[in-house]
Amino acid sequence: MLRHCGGERGHLLQGDNAAALSLLRETHRDAVSLVYLDPPFLTQRVHEKKNRVTRTSAAAFDDRWDDRAAYLEALGDRLSRARDLLAPHGSVIVHVDPKTSHYVKVLCDEIFGEDAFASEIVWRYRRWPSRTPNFQRVHDVLLRYRKDPSVPPRWNPLYEPLAASTLATWGTRKQRAVFDGDGHRARSSKTEEETRGVPMGDVWDIGVIAPMARERTGYPSQKPEALLERIVASLTNEGDWVLDPYAGSGTTLAVAARLGRRFLGIDASPVSVATVRERLAAMGHPLAEPRPHGHDADAEVPTDRPSRTRRKKNATVGPASQKRVRAARAC
Ligand SMILES: C[S@@+](CC[C@H](N)C(=O)[O-])C[C@H]1O[C@@H](n2cnc3c(N)ncnc32)[C@H](O)[C@@H]1O
Repeated sequence: MLRHCGGERGHLLQGDNAAALSLLRETHRDAVSLVYLDPPFLTQRVHEKKNRVTRTSAAAFDDRWDDRAAYLEALGDRLSRARDLLAPHGSVIVHVDPKTSHYVKVLCDEIFGEDAFASEIVWRYRRWPSRTPNFQRVHDVLLRYRKDPSVPPRWNPLYEPLAASTLATWGTRKQRAVFDGDGHRARSSKTEEETRGVPMGDVWDIGVIAPMARERTGYPSQKPEALLERIVASLTNEGDWVLDPYAGSGTTLAVAARLGRRFLGIDASPVSVATVRERLAAMGHPLAEPRPHGHDADAEVPTDRPSRTRRKKNATVGPASQKRVRAARAC
């Protein structure tokens, strides 16, 4: 049973994301500019939310699987459903770790097409070192695919500061490339225009959330708002729909609301839904109490365009895929 909480900036659905994504096909097919997915990382354990004040913990989500194949099958199913919701200019970002990123990239190549691959972003963070006879693992992998590579993507360029050596030689003015007669780059000349920096690369140095940071909710594997800010700001415009089918503590939804985007969040965990509602309410974007979806007209997920006629009930959650859905269900 799906439950729905609506608000001024968007909607949160509580329940299995396979069913919720199918439901959203009726109202948001080809309408979403960005889908960000941060699934559990195949850790084979139950993750708990910690309450700093009461010093208690509660199970938030279960990341135990029969094997990697079951994990990838469930993720592939969600990615295919999410693809239907993307607008032609839209992008999907899948956030994984280096243990699974190569499998997930092959999966995404199959679902979106190799030519739809846009970036492999490395999120580099610093954390307390562990005593292992190995290089410290200090990065996650974010794979970006486009819905339709023949359509110009939603794209707002971001910049990063100039390298110290460039600053020393050229200062903060833009350089102009000068080419010789053969078309080879000869040298650069300085212009009068201030530079905005260099176009953002695909290795992002962003710290993990500090223990006492205001944004910390205690929800397991919460991602920093600074990471989502880059993603949402570069790949969407104000008013666009942003979808997060693994909402967790609601980082994507909070950033989307703050940047004037509309959001759709999904999570199976009641602990997640309570955390997201608390977080958004504190920002001045409250969501209604969860109500069973479809019980009354107010509880429907509305869209900004006429809703399509109801499609045949989705077959992929039928008996043939029960095992897969069971494996993917978080709580
Ligand atoms: C890694 S956490 C997401 C963290 C989030 N990005 C944040 O910043 O807080 C993954 C979330 O996916 C949810 N989840 C896992 N499988 C699900 C499923 N099949 N349907 C809905 N939610 C699911 C879990 O409950 C969990 O909250």
